[in-house]
Amino acid sequence: MLKKGIVLAGGDGTRLYPLTKTVSKHLLPVYDKPMIYYSLSVLMMSGISEILILTRPEDIHLYEKLLGDGYALGINIQYLAQPSAGGLPEAFIIGEEFIGDDHVALILGDNIFYGSGLFDFLKKNIELENGATVFAYKVREPNRFGVIEFDKDNKVVSIEEKPTFPKSSYVVTGLYFYDNNVVSYSKSLSPSVRGELEITDLNNIYLSKNNLHVKFLGRGNAWLDAGTCDSLLEASEFVRTLEHRQGLKIACLEEIAYLNNFISKEKLIQITETLYDSNHKKYLLNLINEN
Ligand code: TTP
Repeated sequence: MLKKGIVLAGGDGTRLYPLTKTVSKHLLPVYDKPMIYYSLSVLMMSGISEILILTRPEDIHLYEKLLGDGYALGINIQYLAQPSAGGLPEAFIIGEEFIGDDHVALILGDNIFYGSGLFDFLKKNIELENGATVFAYKVREPNRFGVIEFDKDNKVVSIEEKPTFPKSSYVVTGLYFYDNNVVSYSKSLSPSVRGELEITDLNNIYLSKNNLHVKFLGRGNAWLDAGTCDSLLEASEFVRTLEHRQGLKIACLEEIAYLNNFISKEKLIQITETLYDSNHKKYLLNLINEN
């Protein structure tokens, strides 16, 4: 059972300057909550309760202030520094001790996933015997991502990082499930021309060993990242529109902790009592009363 996950919340967020000059990107608001809530919620929805957050050294205390050790959410959160943006597979080298002998999930802190049935979809796919599981999503501009090439039988042939001429419209999203080999495979990687360890190289190792499982996230799901000024605003608008229409919150961590049985109703009541009067508190009070 995969129960550990890493949220990668480092990097300089240069495309969002000057917003990110003094504030870590993953603390910026996406409508009514900090960006990192969305990625954290995906791990929690997958049933993962042991979480490592990697941030720039100077930002660790801010994330600790926001989320603490996870006790209030019925999970365990640890923090480590990624001194500079050395690439996504660095997560498995820095996080080696945290991972131990287990399987591990990785999610990028600026990714937002939303869709009906996502809860069940994640839970179904998290059970990997061995190998790696990645999620493919159709996008309009694949050349910004790792692009998946398929043969005529829909078998994955290759993944190319930011190709000039993409071989399909399907790209690898920022959520990955790996077996324990991920640590040694990551250590075997060399930096690319842009000076980073590349997640695409890591996934291609699994592919070369016939051990890469690609699952399709269907059109009923949304996958957004919030790395540019436009996508940050679009993500906020997306969340606002859905929350207003339905009266349900996306990535409300206390709600997910409760629905996932990480916390009891009594603990949810206790937590809610400590909150300032806010829409967030009102929402949790409704949840408690409805149940
Ligand atoms: P990027 O968007 O590639 O990088 P960035 O967030 O620093 O932004 P910019 O390109 O504008 O400078 O990163 C995608 C996500 O992965 C983001 O949530 C930050 C995270 N990340 C790390 O935490 N460490 C890393 O070494 C890299 C490359 C990314």
